[in-house]
Amino acid sequence: MSSAVGRLEDKRCVVTGAAGGIGRAIVEAYAREGARVVAMDLAEPLARATWPGDRVTALPCDLADRGMIERAMGEAVALLGGLDAFVACGALKWGTGSFLDLTDHDWDRYIGVNLTGTFLTCRAAARAMAAQGNGGRIITIGSVNSFMSEPNAAAYVAAKGGVAMLTRAMAVDLGRQGILCNMIAPGPIDVPNAKGIYEEPKLAGEVRDEVALERAGNPEDIAAAAVFLAEDGAGYMTGSTITVDGGLSAMIFGGMR
Ligand SMILES: NC(=O)c1ccc[n+]([C@@H]2O[C@H](COP(=O)([O-])OP(=O)(O)OC[C@H]3O[C@@H](n4cnc5c(N)ncnc54)[C@H](O)[C@@H]3O)[C@@H](O)[C@H]2O)c1
Repeated sequence: MSSAVGRLEDKRCVVTGAAGGIGRAIVEAYAREGARVVAMDLAEPLARATWPGDRVTALPCDLADRGMIERAMGEAVALLGGLDAFVACGALKWGTGSFLDLTDHDWDRYIGVNLTGTFLTCRAAARAMAAQGNGGRIITIGSVNSFMSEPNAAAYVAAKGGVAMLTRAMAVDLGRQGILCNMIAPGPIDVPNAKGIYEEPKLAGEVRDEVALERAGNPEDIAAAAVFLAEDGAGYMTGSTITVDGGLSAMIFGGMR
């Protein structure tokens, strides 16, 4: 029998967007490393999800609903008996059309879920950690779109830019409490919700040209960074970004290679 101790042994963690591609990989990696995890997402995708082992508890939470966020975060912390790491991963995917046609409704939805939802859940997590008095880790999932735009994605990109600065602002304000706040910026990651778009010839060609590793990443690539940011070893890192994008943002004019 193995007596190996996990990298996150007995850590108490909450992950939003847990039924999605990246969130699910983070929940599974955390549980595999010995953490106890509350997996949050909208009720419907959560009801379809199954989890390995007995370390994961599913809890519905709509990131567009302030009251529900307060209740669910409180319930999660009570269930776990405290909170060591919080991962803000839940978000609406891009695709709101051209800027000229961007509606007030879509703007409000994307800023509401992707930025305000991140703020509200992070604030609830930070308050729980501050009350405990022994620090903690807050990990936001931004995007390369936190720094670089792309066509037809103004609301998504603006929200992800906000997540980058929110993360730095939290790092500044929470350092004294020992709450370390960092962002992961994924590049193109092939998740089930992407429905095979990375196999379509046009996008596959763009990924080959613009990504140094010439392929989309896997959710597990992001989970590996999320494990690192939650473990004790990453104790002098806050306000930072880990970019996991296969070299996309290191390069311009990749097609000239
Ligand atoms: N896949 C990529 O290429 C990529 C690239 C950069 C950043 N990201 C970011 O990674 C994170 C995870 O994305 P993913 O690729 O796994 O996508 P995904 O669509 O598989 O997962 C997103 C999850 O967020 C949940 N969600 C959406 N609206 C919600 C709401 N109102 N309340 C609660 N949950 C809600 C969805 O139900 C879904 O399970 C997101 O923040 C996304 O912006 C993804």
